[in-house]
Amino acid sequence: MRLDKFLAESSIGRRKTVRTYIKEGMVKVNGEVITEPAIEINESSDVIEYLGKVVAYTGKVYYMFNKPAGYITARKDTVNKTVFDFFDDAKMNGVFHVGRLDKDTEGLLLLTNDGEFEHKLMYPQKHVEKTYFFWALGSLDEEDIKQLEQGIYIGKGEILTKPAKIEVHKCGMYKEFKHEMPIENLNNIDSNNYNQPVVSGYITITEGRKHQVKRMLKVAGCYVVYLKRTSIGGLMLDESVEKGHYRLLTEVEIQKLFEEL
Ligand code: URA
Repeated sequence: MRLDKFLAESSIGRRKTVRTYIKEGMVKVNGEVITEPAIEINESSDVIEYLGKVVAYTGKVYYMFNKPAGYITARKDTVNKTVFDFFDDAKMNGVFHVGRLDKDTEGLLLLTNDGEFEHKLMYPQKHVEKTYFFWALGSLDEEDIKQLEQGIYIGKGEILTKPAKIEVHKCGMYKEFKHEMPIENLNNIDSNNYNQPVVSGYITITEGRKHQVKRMLKVAGCYVVYLKRTSIGGLMLDESVEKGHYRLLTEVEIQKLFEEL
């Protein structure tokens, strides 16, 4: 295995970052400083050190994280809490999030140290389906649904969205569904718009534009007040993983995701 691949797959840093570490003389192989990232090493018999510490090979890791609202999808932020606050720093140096969820969006977020996996999953031509459950203020009639399913314009200078799939779950008045909506604070509605129409459902998209679901539903006249990603490709969020918790993907889950890419 190449030295840079070994270090990236041991959560030392991304491939590009570890190449810099190697070139700067921070890495030793069997006691000798090596500055060539492409050198072949034997992961079972060679001793690799980074900054004087022996590196234990972990291999590629894939985490399923159930993101709570209120955290931004980034490694660090000077103001906000981030999804990495839920992980142990030491294990996460080379691990990054695959795509992004908005601060107020919940649900399935994948994290990995496998750059190729991330690239394939995010590559628009792969059309990997991402499904979201939503609650929105407003209503969706057949014409709105048809438009969303065919593709719509959501921003100046942007091309038509790829066809989406919509499955309306519930629709009616806010007062009927108030207690089902997983939202703590909608006080401006409580007082003024008790008879406000609301709608919930699932929307499946294959792209990953900024605030895409919210913007698509807005064009259809709906204001999203709750959003949760429930699946990516054939991988469903495991509801036994509580909000703010994570687990490693199983071999079967990894295999299934790879088959789709
Ligand atoms: N679409 C959105 O609007 N927000 C997300 O977080 C994800 C998809």
